[in-house]
Amino acid sequence: MTESCSIVIFGATGDLARGKLLPALYHLDAAGRLARGTRILACGRRQPDRNAWMTVMRNALAGSVRGELDEEVVSRFAKRVDYLRGDLRDARFYAALRDTLDQSHEYPADTVFYMALTPSDYADVLENLDDAKLLDESRGWRRVVLEKPFGNDLPSARALQQKLAQHLREDQIFRIDHYLGKETVRNILVFRFGNVLMEPLWNRNSIDHIQIIHAEPQGIKGRGATYEASGALRDMVQSHLLQLLTFVAMESPVSMAAEALHAEKLKVLKSIRPIPDDKVTQFAIRGQYAAGTVNGNKVIDYRSEQAVAAGSHTETFAALRLHIDNWRWAGVPFLLRTGKRMAEKQALVAICFKQPPQQFFRASQVHCEASNWLLIGIQPHECMRLEMTVKAPGEALATRQTSLDASFRKADDPFNDAYEELLLDIMRGDRSLFLSYQEVEQAWRIVDPVLQAWSQPGDDLHFYPAGSWGPSAADDLFVDPCRFWRNTLEPCGCGMRKTQGV
Ligand SMILES: NC(=O)c1ccc[n+]([C@@H]2O[C@H](COP(=O)([O-])OP(=O)(O)OC[C@H]3O[C@@H](n4cnc5c(N)ncnc54)[C@H](OP(=O)(O)O)[C@@H]3O)[C@@H](O)[C@H]2O)c1
Repeated sequence: MTESCSIVIFGATGDLARGKLLPALYHLDAAGRLARGTRILACGRRQPDRNAWMTVMRNALAGSVRGELDEEVVSRFAKRVDYLRGDLRDARFYAALRDTLDQSHEYPADTVFYMALTPSDYADVLENLDDAKLLDESRGWRRVVLEKPFGNDLPSARALQQKLAQHLREDQIFRIDHYLGKETVRNILVFRFGNVLMEPLWNRNSIDHIQIIHAEPQGIKGRGATYEASGALRDMVQSHLLQLLTFVAMESPVSMAAEALHAEKLKVLKSIRPIPDDKVTQFAIRGQYAAGTVNGNKVIDYRSEQAVAAGSHTETFAALRLHIDNWRWAGVPFLLRTGKRMAEKQALVAICFKQPPQQFFRASQVHCEASNWLLIGIQPHECMRLEMTVKAPGEALATRQTSLDASFRKADDPFNDAYEELLLDIMRGDRSLFLSYQEVEQAWRIVDPVLQAWSQPGDDLHFYPAGSWGPSAADDLFVDPCRFWRNTLEPCGCGMRKTQGV
């Protein structure tokens, strides 16, 4: 249970607030994890008053919560929530906000300001909050939550940080990446640092390469204008996938405290070899979906989506090969891949181990022996699976792949959405699963050469049919033809090998 606080949501009428934040707060309330005095002030423009807002909130909850809406919880939750209408560009709004928070004794002094807004609005909103003395901590703490993206590139991230630093200390800033709140992502830390089994193998001596994948069958859900300004590299790679990489690759931190974790993650990001400006095509592949069939439905090509330019070269697919120049990872490629309108929803980390030093089954016609894999399924299947080669029963000496499952979730375990855990962390003041500015800056440094190259149209933009696994050009990122992208958590096809002698 956390202490009571006030949660002010700017952009409470938007998609994020309706689809994620309010349902997460409802679930926390339902589970008795919100302190009794915690109050939520929803700020928006679209809804004229509290009544209209309550209808919106109820519909949002009905459409997003797990299971049936519990009327008792809804009515308890509704008592915590109020609505303040106003334009964030208007100084009068901040005076009204201050009056609401100060004059009503119902609002605890400790306050979270959640910016569920377009990032370009962050700096102005903060300046206005500061001018209205709403960031003053004389009566209680003030924490500000910023959604990704933090900047659009390295210079804009720096400029934003400079503005934030005029109003806030670093420990007041919570840069959220909701991926880090996912159970399986946090389980990577437990799996790595709560067991001794893997540590001797977790390095260049045993690991051949590591894949980090986020594929989704959805397109851009009518958000053409936003996606045109972003693309897959900014949307997924700079944030979620590089963060996952740090969890997999970092050294053991001295503790699980925020500073210790941030320091180790930053070391990994700093060790990533820069991609040379003139060699981007060797390390990065961009793609865009053409028309195709997804889950049995015909879908249009990206360029025909609403608010997308007819000749757009925005990438809906990005794949990168990165190298970490340190003792643990020298020579181990990290392959990152993400795409929209892909064949299936699949987010996973796939760790491919090296093959045994001696091949006993030389007489086999099989050229590529199956490797051991450790698969960490993030969504939709949360799992931890170790693939091994075993003998297939029968007379002939045949092998097949089987897997050891470290079951992650029991049937009756509670399910918590990433936002629930992260919101609790914000209320507790725990920044360990939030991003430090240095991490963000370093992540922009890594992708910046690719962003520069991809800012121009070019024949390196590969079109892939919607419903596929992306352009085949991405296979070339594996220099060795025996390596391949893991599209599934099922034992891979090459696992069944008939051998003819020892
Ligand atoms: N949607 C998601 O699932 C998701 C996931 C991860 C991260 N994010 C990030 O979350 C942030 C918000 O995204 P979103 O999808 O929720 O955007 P959105 O649907 O466009 O909502 C934007 C919100 O900002 C409010 N707003 C804009 N200008 C305003 C002004 N001048 N005064 C008052 N309110 C103003 C809008 O209020 P009115 O509509 O009432 O005018 C609306 O509530 C973005 O940084 C995005 O990258 C979103």
